[in-house]
Amino acid sequence: MRTDAIVLSRHGGPKELVLVQVELAEPGPGEILLRHAAINVNFHDTYVRTGQYRTLALPGIPGLDAVGVVEAVGPGVTHLAVGDRAAWISGAYGGYAARRILNADLAFRLPDGIGDAQAAASLMKTFTVRMLVKDSHRVQAGQTVLVHAAAGGVSQLLCQWCKALGARVIGTVSSEAKAEVARACGADEIIFYRSEDFVARVDALTDGAGVAAVYDSVGRDTFAGSLRCLDYSGTLVNFGQSSGPVEPFRPSDLAVRSLSVTRPILFHKIRTPEQLRTYVDETFDAFDRGVVRPIDPDILPLSRAADAHRILEAGESRGGIVLAPDQ
Ligand SMILES: NC(=O)c1ccc[n+]([C@@H]2O[C@H](COP(=O)([O-])OP(=O)(O)OC[C@H]3O[C@@H](n4cnc5c(N)ncnc54)[C@H](OP(=O)(O)O)[C@@H]3O)[C@@H](O)[C@H]2O)c1
Repeated sequence: MRTDAIVLSRHGGPKELVLVQVELAEPGPGEILLRHAAINVNFHDTYVRTGQYRTLALPGIPGLDAVGVVEAVGPGVTHLAVGDRAAWISGAYGGYAARRILNADLAFRLPDGIGDAQAAASLMKTFTVRMLVKDSHRVQAGQTVLVHAAAGGVSQLLCQWCKALGARVIGTVSSEAKAEVARACGADEIIFYRSEDFVARVDALTDGAGVAAVYDSVGRDTFAGSLRCLDYSGTLVNFGQSSGPVEPFRPSDLAVRSLSVTRPILFHKIRTPEQLRTYVDETFDAFDRGVVRPIDPDILPLSRAADAHRILEAGESRGGIVLAPDQ
């Protein structure tokens, strides 16, 4: 069987994302054949495309997560059957394709209450937020946290989960429109970090105390300032680098207030089926209890993967973009 797929043959600009037809085998033992309905586009995919991350062997099919319908199961697969709606998240790539063969252990069944596009846009982001608020730093009621780029897809959900845990949230954004989005997600205070000194503003907003944690996905432009926003024993959670990689820093920079820095990666937290189950269960529980609202993404055809990358890299995503293959 042949299927549409976006193949990256060399690192470079968005035009390196080329739609071709690739051959698919039958699912082997422990594998499933999944027909994708909605494929998530992650900022990570842009790093893979440019070569900033060299984690996809070329030529290769990018894409870390998608949802679809099981079309065939290989021998030994018991938790999924033909016709099931299923989702998967994996650092093994292969998402930008109309169909794919997948290790069934990476896939989990989707409940009825969430649509394909919403699920594709929200699952990876919500998993990430679960890691950030429970593992990277345990957010507690009464704490103040700083969330950079608070209208970004992950950070929208992060603001919501931090609020649900009883934290006070200071969000940074680049525009008034994004401030509205961040406020709607629970940000109590907004800093326009392109035009204001965000370190001075955090100092003023916390009466000089600083914040318990900074969630920094912006990286190069904000990292040094983020360290200066922290309270004693505070934690800088650097989980992304939208503005570029962070410059080297000295451990002694942390000694000023006994600070910690962590650089967590979701895939390291969902390596076993048991770990994955915890993230799946807590994510759907967070949706059910209204702790976070699933994202309604923009939807583009699979053939326009390059445009999806352009939107992300221009900082113009409204919170989520998914690709839909022709059916
Ligand atoms: N560690 C992990 O396991 C993990 C998992 C998922 C995602 N991530 C990372 O989390 C970050 C955010 O992902 P996302 O899906 O939320 O992305 P997104 O929706 O595109 O948001 C990114 C935001 O970053 C800000 N930004 C600052 N400098 C930028 C620049 N030079 N180019 C583009 N945007 C810039 C923009 O907000 P303003 O306009 O307000 O500045 C933009 O809205 C990414 O770095 C991603 O790789 C990490």
